[in-house]
Amino acid sequence: MQINTQSTTPYDDQKPGTSGLRKKVTVFQQTNYLENFVQSIFNSLQDFQGTSLVIGGDGRFFNREAIQIIIKIAAANGFGELIIGQGGLLSTPAVSNLIRINNAFGGIILSASHNPGGPDEDFGIKYNVSNGGPAPEKFTDALYENSTTISEYQIADIVDVDLDSIGQQKIDDLVITIIDPVSDYADLMAKIFDFDLLKNSISYGYITLCFDAMHAITGPYAKRILEDLLGAPKGTVINGIPLEDFGGGHPDPNMAHAEELTNTMFGENAPTFGAASDGDGDRNMIMGANIFVTPSDSLAIMAANAQLIPAYAKGISGVARSMPTSQAVDRVAKKLGLPCFETPTGWKFFGNLLDDGQITLCGEESFGSGSDHVREKDGLWAVLFWLNLVAKKRQSIEDIVNEHWESFGRDIYCRHDYEAVDLDVANGIFDHLRSQLSGLAGQKFSDYTVKYADEFSYTDPVDNSVSHNQGIRIGFENGSRIIFRLSGTGTVGATLRIYLEKYEADSSKHGQDAQEALAFLIDLAEQFCKIKKRTGRTEPTVIT
Ligand code: G1P
Ligand code: ZN
Repeated sequence: MQINTQSTTPYDDQKPGTSGLRKKVTVFQQTNYLENFVQSIFNSLQDFQGTSLVIGGDGRFFNREAIQIIIKIAAANGFGELIIGQGGLLSTPAVSNLIRINNAFGGIILSASHNPGGPDEDFGIKYNVSNGGPAPEKFTDALYENSTTISEYQIADIVDVDLDSIGQQKIDDLVITIIDPVSDYADLMAKIFDFDLLKNSISYGYITLCFDAMHAITGPYAKRILEDLLGAPKGTVINGIPLEDFGGGHPDPNMAHAEELTNTMFGENAPTFGAASDGDGDRNMIMGANIFVTPSDSLAIMAANAQLIPAYAKGISGVARSMPTSQAVDRVAKKLGLPCFETPTGWKFFGNLLDDGQITLCGEESFGSGSDHVREKDGLWAVLFWLNLVAKKRQSIEDIVNEHWESFGRDIYCRHDYEAVDLDVANGIFDHLRSQLSGLAGQKFSDYTVKYADEFSYTDPVDNSVSHNQGIRIGFENGSRIIFRLSGTGTVGATLRIYLEKYEADSSKHGQDAQEALAFLIDLAEQFCKIKKRTGRTEPTVIT
């Protein structure tokens, strides 16, 4: 194969965030933009010649073009095998699994997760390492350094690869393997969960379900698993065909964006079980008839009931949650005598704990949960976990949640996002917040006395690496918290997230509406950060 060396000049905006590099499609379409980034990835790796690389994406606009470019650069850089999902499609958890089962060197995922897709929307690229998880900060820092000095890239002079025919193609020493995107993942799920029990529960009509794939990657996965393997009726999976622009929607599984599902689940004759996943298949939303399970509660309930699931029947080693995730899972860990870790936001922080066997389950408030079966959060895994729970406990989602609150109390929770805030204004808000921290402890606001106010830092218990500035926390004596964080995944201006949480032990108050129950904390948060005042906005862009 002929390899060309192409000279290039660096772009100065290729610093990967919590989930890789995310930009508008038009940015990625600039001359050499993607090429520079891909070559910078390979320049940050050593000893990969002859090894295999997994490649796939969520099917959004520019996916196929990007894959052809990546194939040519990977071929020129000396990989021995490229394992690619048919049609260029692979969900994020499926990539993680494929890296692990093929002992691949790593993987490249094309996605901007839950961000919209299309010619004027978002695209993204992320590198995952050999454990199947997102690359650690050490790697992404080196990658960024390389991207600022890059002067040339290597590209193979080969024709575009046929991405649609399953099978192997050879180009000189390079093997290109196009695989069915779903099979290996479906096999993994069948090993973790009780598929026979699920099949029976569905065929007897004990479980009725609706899964919203939001025109994103989980369509083919959910159809194969829920409809073909578990026997749910055709049509159980709605919006099941992946589209380049996700049908114009925002493939984010929450009640604001998964409107069709939400209407179904809160409508007459609602099915017993509802769920949705995001653009790349790593997030999940769980619903029952007339109920939505917050991701923080979902993690806690999974941890409390893990032994009912075949793969976790022998017990779990520990749990972890991201810092802004509610403390519901901490209560479960305490009761079960399990270690519980609080990590910064972003899945990569769970990787070391999972690799080291210190935790089995982990999750984030942002609709992500997972286990040691892969090194990414996993949307359909969470859906199957809940289905398995419902089938095993023979209880409705509502009863499972209420019973959990009865035993552990309820951590009433919500998140307010202010999107596309002017960067200077956002930085001003954070400077102002920081300036208040040292004087807050001990101050009393009505029934709430500040216990601590700080900026979260994390020391990884496995490799001792330290991550600073991971969000501002204000904790109260009664266990409530207000947390302020700037998003690392937004693509326009800054996104400010405010996380609010209050513990309620009294079961007669468990039915409260979260916004009402948290009203005092919501006002207090505004007093601290003055975001409404500084931006002139009257309410958050999204409340979840
Ligand atoms: C968001 C979520 C975070 C998640 C990430 C990737 O990041 O808050 O929990 O890990 O997306 O899905 P953020 O935009 O807050 O940095
Ligand atoms: Zn995602």
